[in-house]
Amino acid sequence: MVKIIQEQGVLDLILAFFTSAALTTALVFRRRMKAAESNHTREKDRLKAELETLEQRLEARTAILELLPDPLLTLDERFTIIRANRAARELFDIDQVEKPLSRFIRAPEILDGVQQALSRNRRMETEYVNRDGNERFFRVLFEVIPPQTYSRTRLLVAFSETTALKQAARTNADFVANASHELRTPLTGLLGFIETLQGAAKNDAGAREHFLGIMHEQALRMTRLVQDMLQLQKIERNLHAAPSERVNLSALLDKIIESLAIKADQRQMRISFRDRLKTPDVLGDTEELTQIFQNLLDNAIKYGAAGSTIELELDSASLPPKNLPAAAVRVRNEGEGIDPEDVPRLTERFYRTKAAREKSDSGTGLGLAIVKNAVNRHQGKLEISSAMGGVTQFTVYLPIAPVAASRVQEASQA
Ligand SMILES: Nc1ncnc2c1ncn2[C@@H]1O[C@H](COP(=O)(O)OP(=O)(O)O)[C@@H](O)[C@H]1O
Ligand SMILES: [Mg+2]
Repeated sequence: MVKIIQEQGVLDLILAFFTSAALTTALVFRRRMKAAESNHTREKDRLKAELETLEQRLEARTAILELLPDPLLTLDERFTIIRANRAARELFDIDQVEKPLSRFIRAPEILDGVQQALSRNRRMETEYVNRDGNERFFRVLFEVIPPQTYSRTRLLVAFSETTALKQAARTNADFVANASHELRTPLTGLLGFIETLQGAAKNDAGAREHFLGIMHEQALRMTRLVQDMLQLQKIERNLHAAPSERVNLSALLDKIIESLAIKADQRQMRISFRDRLKTPDVLGDTEELTQIFQNLLDNAIKYGAAGSTIELELDSASLPPKNLPAAAVRVRNEGEGIDPEDVPRLTERFYRTKAAREKSDSGTGLGLAIVKNAVNRHQGKLEISSAMGGVTQFTVYLPIAPVAASRVQEASQA
C-alpha cells in the first residue's frame, strides 16, 4: 500500500513537476512571445522610420532631378519611358510616361543611341540638335544601368545643353572671318599701289604722291581696325571683373570734349555740355569710360548733320530693375537718323549701316560693340533711339559709386 501510495505520490510528483514545468515553459514562452512582440513592434517602428527617411530622401532626389534644367529620361529595356523630368517633358512634349520612347522622339541619333547602348551594354554618347523652335544643341549620354531585381530601369538618357558653347564658337569664327575680310580690303589696296609704284608709276612724281597718300589712309585704317579689335578683346577678357576706380564723369567728359574739338570743328559742329548731376562719381575704369564716350561723340560728329550742335547731357537717373541710383549720359545729334530695323544690330561687331558705309570709310563698325561691352562690364545699360531724318540719341546709364565710408564720416563731422 505504502508502496502504491508512494508510487502514486511519485507519479503525482512527477506529474506535478511536468505540469509546472509545462506551465513555466508556457509562461516563459508567453513572456518571450510578449517581449518578441514588443521587440517586433519596436523593429517595425524602426523600419517604418527608416523607410520614411528613405522615402523623403528619394523624394528630395526626385525633386532635384525634376527641377534639373537639363532633360533627363529613364527607360526600361523595351524602350518604354519610365520617368521624364520637367525639362525632358517640355523639350519633347511628353505628356505621359509608360509609353514607347519613339512616340515622342523621332531623332535617329537618339533612338540609335538607346538601341546601341542597350544591345552592346555600354555607355554611348551623341550630339543632338533640336530644331523645334530656336536651334538648341545637346550632348546626349546613354548610361546603362545593370539589371536589378527591384527596378526595371535599364537606361538613363541625360542631355546637357551646349547651345551657348556652340554660339560662342560660332561668334568667334564669325569674328575671325569678318576681321580677316576687313583687313584684306586695305591690304589688297596697299599691295596694288605698291605694284603700281614699282611698275607703271615708277618715274611719275605726281602719281607717287597721290598713291602714297592713299596708302597712308589704308595703313591708318588697318591700324584703327587692329586697335579696336585689341580694345574689344581687352574689355571682353575683363568682362566679369567689376571695375573699382572712382571716376568723376564731369571731369572725364570735359577732357573728351576738348580732345574732339578739332574734329567737330572740321564739320562746323559744336558740342554743348549740360551737367546736371550732383554726385558725379561712378565706379569705373577710366580707359573704358573714355572709350565709351569718345566713340559715341565721334559717331555724333561723323554721322550728325554738318553745322549742327551735339548735345551732351549728364543727369541723375535710376537703373532698372533694382532702381539703383545712376548717372545718365545722353549724346544727342541731328542728322539722317537710323532705320529702326538697323537699331538692334548697331552693337554687333563690324555692323555698319548702308548709309554709314557710303558716307565715310573711316569707321570699323567696332565702336558700338566696344561701347556695349564696356557698359556691360560697368553693370550699366545702353539705350538707342533714333527718328529718321531727326534726332538720334544714345543714353548710357552707369551706377553711381557708393559714398566712401571716410567721406560719410567727414560729412557727419562737418
Ligand atoms: N549718331 C549716329 N547717327 C547715325 N548712325 C549712327 C550713329 N552712331 C552710330 N551709327 C551707326 O551705327 C554704326 C555702328 O557704329 P560704330 O560701331 O561706332 O561703327 P563705325 O566705325 O561705323 O563708327 C555706324 O556705322 C552707323 O551706321
Ligand atoms: Mg564709331
